[in-house]
Amino acid sequence: MEKKVKIFDTTLRDGEQSPGCSMNLNEKIEVARQLDAMGVDIIEAGFAIASPGDAAAIAAIADTVQNAVVCSLARCTEKDIDAAWNAVQHAKKKRIHIFIATSPVHMEYKLKMSGEEVLESVRHHVAYARNYCEDIEFSAEDATRSEPDFLCRVFETAIEAGATTLNIPDTVGYVLPEEYAERVRYVREHVKGVENVTLSCHCHDDLGMAVANTLAGVKAGIGQIECTINGIGERAGNASMEECVMAMHTRKGFFGCDTNIITNQIYRASRMIQTITGVPVAPTKAVVGANAFAHESGIHQHGVLANKETYEIMTPESVGIPQNAIVLGKHSGRHAFEDRLLALGYTLTKEKIDKAFDKFKILADKKKTIKDRDLEAIIGAVPVSGSERYTLVNFVINSGNAITSTAVIRLKHGDDICERVAASDGPINAAYRALNKIVGKDFILEDYSLNAITEGEDAQGEAIVKISLDGSEWVTGRGVSTDVIEASIKAYVNGINKYFNE
Ligand code: KIV
Ligand code: ZN
Repeated sequence: MEKKVKIFDTTLRDGEQSPGCSMNLNEKIEVARQLDAMGVDIIEAGFAIASPGDAAAIAAIADTVQNAVVCSLARCTEKDIDAAWNAVQHAKKKRIHIFIATSPVHMEYKLKMSGEEVLESVRHHVAYARNYCEDIEFSAEDATRSEPDFLCRVFETAIEAGATTLNIPDTVGYVLPEEYAERVRYVREHVKGVENVTLSCHCHDDLGMAVANTLAGVKAGIGQIECTINGIGERAGNASMEECVMAMHTRKGFFGCDTNIITNQIYRASRMIQTITGVPVAPTKAVVGANAFAHESGIHQHGVLANKETYEIMTPESVGIPQNAIVLGKHSGRHAFEDRLLALGYTLTKEKIDKAFDKFKILADKKKTIKDRDLEAIIGAVPVSGSERYTLVNFVINSGNAITSTAVIRLKHGDDICERVAASDGPINAAYRALNKIVGKDFILEDYSLNAITEGEDAQGEAIVKISLDGSEWVTGRGVSTDVIEASIKAYVNGINKYFNE
């Protein structure tokens, strides 16, 4: 049987802890559901000791996830391990992931510990965690800058104390693929008992090598790879799951292995992370970028028309990119709508389908034909949180290049309708001032972007805003409409609702 490399997804831990990528509880659960549905083997759901919110999110994910192992990170301290166990203990399958740094620079300046003290800490804490849980991952932080023989002693100690997975992180994204593969081979050849555990790689992208190093690790015999959707993560990010998975899938013969990932769920996961975090992927991003399957030059178009294999090594369908077929219109009913969503890989709750169908009907009144990409935009626009404190009723904007812009906005809040007027030098700013007046808070607009997500005159625009009250905690809001001002207002209202939900 074909060898399967396990996918350990750390979008909700390494990804979520990077700037601008924070998610609220409901968003984390939604992401975990998607990861579970797409066949991820292990979901690192967070770092339980980091905050009560993190611990609660891990526990909620542990209750939700059906197939994957749910894991929490912990440092080598009893308190961290207790918190990790408390958070994951009710999962069907659970793991505690313990780490300590093993490189000279980290041990001397960060930990202020000798090598012997680090070894003792590994022995004690892996054994301590093993009393709770059979599945223990141990990571030697900064493994690629650690002394190879010391690293092997650390790993042997972790195995003796009960670790079942050993991770070799390239924490600072320093090494090149050949060096990474060499490090994996060294560990495989010099660590006693290594044949009884799973070896894992966890590579950061500081030199743009995260995916290449990860794949070099696979070629050198690693059994698990750690990655994130869209490659989000600390600094330059982590190895991107979609790139690693599609490389192994497309070049199975070369790697001699594949993964359990249902590849046509990849695009959906990527869009979900973009929508929730508001961090867009570059158009040229491999596998999921807007141009990843676009053939612009005449020669390429001609070749693809004659035979797709001339310029396509994988198909957009294989990663679940919606095709631009005309599928639905004003007269399509709920059945057709639901059927199409199913065909696109969406299995939504009844509540979400109801909301999405309402949005579909509104859009169908404005657009003659609704394509797969429109449906996908609608799904992304259905709030994850479910409860919307404020909803937009209507608005009037008066703007021009020789007048002060004014906005009149009306929102529904419970049974009340609240209306406010504001003026500013631009229509969006005027609208946002009016919204601040309605909710009685001085939200600051930290970031704003607007993109067309479908083509043509009646294209839908997607606005993403990041708002905060004092510059510290940013909340991301998203709005979609064929009218860019409406999309911008909806994004701000979505951000406000998320702020209040948290
Ligand atoms: O990059 C790293 O070393 C980590 C560890 C905690 C695995 O994220
Ligand atoms: Zn990391």
